[in-house]
Amino acid sequence: MREMIKMKMKVAVYNYREFDEAKWFQKYSKELGLELVICHDAPDMENASMAEGCACISIITSKITAELAQRFADLGVKYIHTRTIGYDHIDTQKCRELGIRFGNAPYGPNGVADYTVMLMLMSIRRMKCIMERAAVQDYTLKGIQGRELADFTVGVIGTGRIGRTVVKALSGFGCRIIAYDLYENDEVKQFADYVNLDELMRTADLITLHTPLTDDNYHLINRETIAKMKDQVVIINTARGGLIDTDALIEGIESEKIGAVGLDVVEKEFGLYYYDRKSDIIGNRELSVLRGFPNVTVTPHMAFYTDNAIRTMVEKSLLSCHAFMTGAENPYEVTD
Ligand code: NAI
Repeated sequence: MREMIKMKMKVAVYNYREFDEAKWFQKYSKELGLELVICHDAPDMENASMAEGCACISIITSKITAELAQRFADLGVKYIHTRTIGYDHIDTQKCRELGIRFGNAPYGPNGVADYTVMLMLMSIRRMKCIMERAAVQDYTLKGIQGRELADFTVGVIGTGRIGRTVVKALSGFGCRIIAYDLYENDEVKQFADYVNLDELMRTADLITLHTPLTDDNYHLINRETIAKMKDQVVIINTARGGLIDTDALIEGIESEKIGAVGLDVVEKEFGLYYYDRKSDIIGNRELSVLRGFPNVTVTPHMAFYTDNAIRTMVEKSLLSCHAFMTGAENPYEVTD
């Protein structure tokens, strides 16, 4: 009987990283009595077979398409856990059809919130230009005059765990904070005024995005909404690339309607980020255009990447798989 249970307590881990995740995977799998099947690559139709005999798989932000979900279901996988907060990379509808359940890893919001504030400051102080110039010993002033956050009205869209932490952090900068969410939060009201989305778009000097990507808010920032915004608006996105229509954003930057942009996430980032693609032709020309602008800071989906978050992501992923397999309460399963 012990052998039976042991055989079943197997988790296939995709995108397993030796340099930062391995020590935590080893620690928590030992503590929980889980056997790991390790794959260093993203899951695909070929390496899916490694999950045969595993009820659970652990992934990061690589796509689980309908086809791949079907393949995993055929192999007996019943639970997919993503070591990330967002789970829009999983075809959840197909998973539900197949009876595959899924979960995420809501690690602490501080790392992403810190990073968001950093991108805000970098954007309004033209840090990209300052650093590029300094690197070639160009110490001139012309063209790099900054703006002060205290003079801004900052609009926070999405006041969940991360948005809320950003609001609290911003409260020390002396700026006016306005916010929009489907559900208002009392803690946020201490520091910010909730307004409707239209008013936020029209009155904010800086707009920062902190909602999950859903069917309802796909391309929330688009030609129409950009047209409503204040001239020289600053846009920060550490949530998901699909919240912004990239073509519309580029047009807004080119027409100088948009003053600065900080993006930790972009559309079509799948298969690109976390790989060394130096020698490759990248099939994302919008990203190349964005990277070329002096007032756009693009980082490769790094906001989450802290020591605290990595440990927690691995811990929650294995706890969640363990809970699924033992039938215990699973706080990291997505049920909505
Ligand atoms: P959360 O679930 O705590 O908060 C999300 C908030 O967005 C909720 O208050 C919800 O009511 C609101 N919301 C949902 N749909 C909305 C809509 N259409 N309009 C307005 N508000 C809406 O999530 P959390 O932890 O704050 O994370 C937010 C997002 O940040 C994640 O979904 C993820 O996509 C992204 N993220 C990015 C990371 C990075 O490394 N760049 C790391 C972690 C998360």
